[in-house]
Amino acid sequence: MSAPDENTLPTTSRIFPVNRYFDFQRRSLENIEEFWAKTAKENITWFKTWDKILDWNIPFAKWFVGGKLNVSYNCVDRHLDSPNRNKVAYYWEGEKGDTRTLSYQDLFSEVNKFASVLKELGVTQKKRVTIYLPMIPELPVAMLACARLGAAFTVVFSGFSSQALSDRMNDSESSVLITADGGYRRGKIIPLKTISDEALEDSPKVDHVIVYKRTNENVQMKQGRDLWWSDLVANTKNEFVKPEELESTHPLYLLYSSGTTGKPKAIVHGTGGYLTYVNATTQWVFDPKPSDVYWCAADIGWVTGHSYIVFGPLSLGMTSVLYEGVPDYPQNDRLWEMVERYGVNILYTSPTALRGMMRYGDEPPSRHDLHSLRILGSVGEPINPHVWLWYFHNIGGGRCPIVDTWWQTETGGILISASPRLGLVPLKPGSATFPLPGIEAEVLNDDGKPAKTNEKGYIVIKQPWPGMLQTLYHDEERYRQVYWSKFPGVYYAGDYCVRDDEGYFWLLGRADEVLKVSGHRLGTIEIEDALVSHPAVAESAVAGKADELKGERIVAFVIVKAGHKPTEELSRELREHVRKAIGPLATPEEIHFVKSLPKTRSGKIMRRVVKAVANGMQNVGDVTTLEDQASVEEVKRAVLELEEQVKSGD
Ligand code: WT7
Repeated sequence: MSAPDENTLPTTSRIFPVNRYFDFQRRSLENIEEFWAKTAKENITWFKTWDKILDWNIPFAKWFVGGKLNVSYNCVDRHLDSPNRNKVAYYWEGEKGDTRTLSYQDLFSEVNKFASVLKELGVTQKKRVTIYLPMIPELPVAMLACARLGAAFTVVFSGFSSQALSDRMNDSESSVLITADGGYRRGKIIPLKTISDEALEDSPKVDHVIVYKRTNENVQMKQGRDLWWSDLVANTKNEFVKPEELESTHPLYLLYSSGTTGKPKAIVHGTGGYLTYVNATTQWVFDPKPSDVYWCAADIGWVTGHSYIVFGPLSLGMTSVLYEGVPDYPQNDRLWEMVERYGVNILYTSPTALRGMMRYGDEPPSRHDLHSLRILGSVGEPINPHVWLWYFHNIGGGRCPIVDTWWQTETGGILISASPRLGLVPLKPGSATFPLPGIEAEVLNDDGKPAKTNEKGYIVIKQPWPGMLQTLYHDEERYRQVYWSKFPGVYYAGDYCVRDDEGYFWLLGRADEVLKVSGHRLGTIEIEDALVSHPAVAESAVAGKADELKGERIVAFVIVKAGHKPTEELSRELREHVRKAIGPLATPEEIHFVKSLPKTRSGKIMRRVVKAVANGMQNVGDVTTLEDQASVEEVKRAVLELEEQVKSGD
């Protein structure tokens, strides 16, 4: 983990005044309230200034209390009085190559018309709306229209199943669903309306379903419930809907994310603090210039898209590329071809996408002129140093700093990253470098003491920040317990981290039962619950196995109930069952039928044993000291036993 060869470092890192950055960061922490108040005042338009900067009633933070604003106003209306009026907000491209260009003026008009539609359907500050759309401009339009009215929305990734969609509509108590007839992905059509129909059978509280026509699929429209987007917009009476003057603490959206127990919980983000945070971090990390074209190649179904395709960039009047499909379809150079065609200056993607591109070798990007690129970003998982170097040389041509951005759905925005705007520190492939201003991060060991240099521990955040989650929807207790109980008074992120001899932060992946499969976050217990809901399954244990392409792949150990046979056929059926329960992203890649699972004396599954066996025992050394309540001998025996069962099953 030492610094790489000088020649591999971006030239910019030697030019920028690094000390300025550390000074700025240190000063910000001396008085975070003053620091964030200044940031909020300078960057966000408030209808009314706050009475109190921060109400910190651990672990509940209320930012800019008494302040009033509207996110839709900040992302759209305020650009109309400026040269940004006719600036492009989104260059949209469909997977098939169809394109649309929306200026800020266009966005204003679309958002208002759709807000008017929602208003006529009875959507108010007190309602929730579920959005299940493909990556088309109507997705940000719908989000901004909800924000305009103050209705908290929840976006469900279009790869989730009907059951997952229904769970989210019910848990959020949504009265409206916004969807499409279908969406394109890798040349296929995802039948979003058909999936929605199935979900709606179990979600009777949804009164209205608004359907956007994208693919012209034949779909069923239920009388009195289902309405076409185009008809509603054509018939709405208002061209302008006044943005609601909302409390700074008003919830902006709920986003479901997997944790260490059962079903995903809704992470709640607020208005004033969240917007201040995503706006500031977009500037610090991506250093956008007025004429830049920026492309965050994530899906809006995840938090990256919320913060860095929609709210951060739009609040700054930036021009973004918005792309519907996958990056290697129909040709494997699609991503690079688009970078060249749009003259993209800032590209933000994931290690998983990069590993996927690397499979095709160096030739596809070399076919394109990528000189427009100035800054490259990475998010979602630790980036392997060899992937970092490939990105740096083959995509960035050795000129562009890579901002490896560490954060989570819960944190709202980036917490740890280099900052080309404020002063770029020398980069090290695989390290996210240092916390951003206003963020006080530390690594603690199991005893809750600061970890020593190169000692692996847990990353924590010691002071509240404006982007942090407000709570878990309808579950304050779980909010306390998950994030604030391991080390009292500090935010526990659930990630391992070490700091090297120069203080750099190296984020090492999850310390809990959360998996990252192709960058998608899934809970092992969530997948186990899905497996156990099949009539043939008595018990199961799921673990992540290191995978070159996906980061982690899902391995399941399954005990079948008496009277059922562990066959290939059953294995196929179980895979299909999990797809239906959660979505294709959660499909186990390996299923091993076993007769028993390793358990501690208190009956808990020995998680580390399961993981070690799934990974071919590489880290059995680690296991021996870590399992709850079990002796070294017991753990060793458990590993051997499970190994033996897997071998005899093959
Ligand atoms: C988890 C959060 C952040 C938005 C998209 C994912 C992992 C994220 C990095 C990074 C190492 C990273 C962590 C974190 N993670 N970025 N740059 N380096 N690990 O949000 O689905 O809530 O997942 O992703 O393990 O806890 P998410």
